[in-house]
Amino acid sequence: MESIWTQTCNHREKRPPLDRQIEADVAVIGGGMAGILTAWQLEQAGVRTVVLEADQIGQGQTKNTTAKITVQHGLFCHTFLEKKGEETARNYVQANQEAVKEYKRIIKEEGINCDLTEADSFVYSSDREKLRQETKAAQRLGIRADLKEQIEIPVPCAGAVCFPNQAEFHPLKFLYALADTLKVYEDSQVKEVEDHLVKTSLGSVKADYIVFAAHFPFINFPGMYFTRMHQERSYVLALENTGRIEGMYIGDGEEKLSFRQYDRYLLLGGQGHRTGENKSGGCYQKLKEAAQAYYPDSRVAACWSAQDCITADSIPFIGAYASDRPGWLVASGFQKWGMSSSMVSAMLLRDKICNIENPYAETFAPSRFSTEEIPQIARDSGHAVKGLAKRFFHVPEETANMLERGHGAVVETSQGKMGVYKSEEGELFKVDIVCPHLGCELTWNPDEQSWDCPCHGSRFDVRGNLLDGPAQEGIQYE
Ligand SMILES: Cc1cc2nc3c(=O)[nH]c(=O)nc-3n(C[C@H](O)[C@H](O)[C@H](O)COP(=O)(O)OP(=O)(O)OC[C@H]3O[C@@H](n4cnc5c(N)ncnc54)[C@H](O)[C@@H]3O)c2cc1C
Ligand code: FES
Repeated sequence: MESIWTQTCNHREKRPPLDRQIEADVAVIGGGMAGILTAWQLEQAGVRTVVLEADQIGQGQTKNTTAKITVQHGLFCHTFLEKKGEETARNYVQANQEAVKEYKRIIKEEGINCDLTEADSFVYSSDREKLRQETKAAQRLGIRADLKEQIEIPVPCAGAVCFPNQAEFHPLKFLYALADTLKVYEDSQVKEVEDHLVKTSLGSVKADYIVFAAHFPFINFPGMYFTRMHQERSYVLALENTGRIEGMYIGDGEEKLSFRQYDRYLLLGGQGHRTGENKSGGCYQKLKEAAQAYYPDSRVAACWSAQDCITADSIPFIGAYASDRPGWLVASGFQKWGMSSSMVSAMLLRDKICNIENPYAETFAPSRFSTEEIPQIARDSGHAVKGLAKRFFHVPEETANMLERGHGAVVETSQGKMGVYKSEEGELFKVDIVCPHLGCELTWNPDEQSWDCPCHGSRFDVRGNLLDGPAQEGIQYE
């Protein structure tokens, strides 16, 4: 089903693809929140910028976000202070605080009608001590933070940490308004990047700088971002008949449900899992059960899901793509906080390109390395090895005949192992099960009826069409 953002935004005609050779100061790859904001900030600074979008602006993860604009990225202040030290924690907080302010400034000064609402942000938890620690840590980092004993949503908890004066908006209304002022080519998937030349199937851009804002940096070497990030997917319901809430909420720990209001809808999110690891499904069902428990009179008006890149040290990668590619820049790894992180990216990359010193550059630089990353990188590599090994050693127990209608599985066929989906009408859809990114075996996601890769999170529909990267092509379909 389409997200509430797609359903409540005017249809836009697609812009024509790039069909010739052009030149620009900067070529931005990807027309999501990160790419459009970066291009807009650059244009404002007088830098000639073009955006190349594989499909249509905003139709990647951005159309499926919950669009809270906040510095409060979970209960992170205490952990950041302990693990990363005062300077990094402070830089992270300040960069995001400036990003929240910048959204408010742009929307006001440009007169953008995108349903911006100022709202307090809360993280609730059943661990009172953790909340107390977080409040103190946030205050030490310069954030106005209050410990609340009671909150307006009916979840069991010991209270919440509140960051006042954050914001929420309609992401597509905002994105389209900014994009209207930019040079954007849609249906222009970047196929190859050679030094300063970006190639699509019909044209190319020669640019001094190239910004990879394609959600997952899809060029594997150099950079090797696939070794330092994985993707996690989560699910959202838009509920009607719940009554209104004023704040934006997210839980800490196991019961990590997210709540915000948009118009007459309450958006309830959760059931996160590593992409490619949802074999038994039931994510929407569990969210519906939570909705019933907390809002017995509610009705589901829409449901959707999205995914985001998770870095090993919980800080996005914003800055130089690789030391041997001068002019290549990247913005990725937003940890499901890509509204503020996209604005941080746009401001940092603008400053880098315009040669302006930015005090937060080192904190987000992809070249950083801390020992904190090692255990997560080891876990991610373990997943990749498992995904690859599965391709060679996993012998499916099922055959296509055993599949129930509406279900999919990796099965043994006369052509070898294949991914097979049996539609409600009994039609079989067979796909190659090898991920074109780096060759792991795909798994079935019953909630989205898609083939998902457990290694780095690429996704494909039942006909093999590419849904999400890092893969850049579909899989074979019979
Ligand atoms: C369920 C969920 C809820 C969330 N809620 C929030 C929230 O409340 N607040 C918050 O701050 N963050 C939230 N996030 C995170 C946020 O939505 C994302 O971080 C953000 O939308 C990512 O934007 P992006 O521009 O990086 O990626 P995208 O929006 O995916 O844009 C990337 C674009 O690049 C294009 N592309 C890919 N490859 C190529 C290529 N080769 N050539 C040209 N174009 C290409 C794609 O088509 C796509 O349009 C949430 C995430 C999830 C999963
Ligand atoms: S996404 Fe990397 S192997 Fe599939």
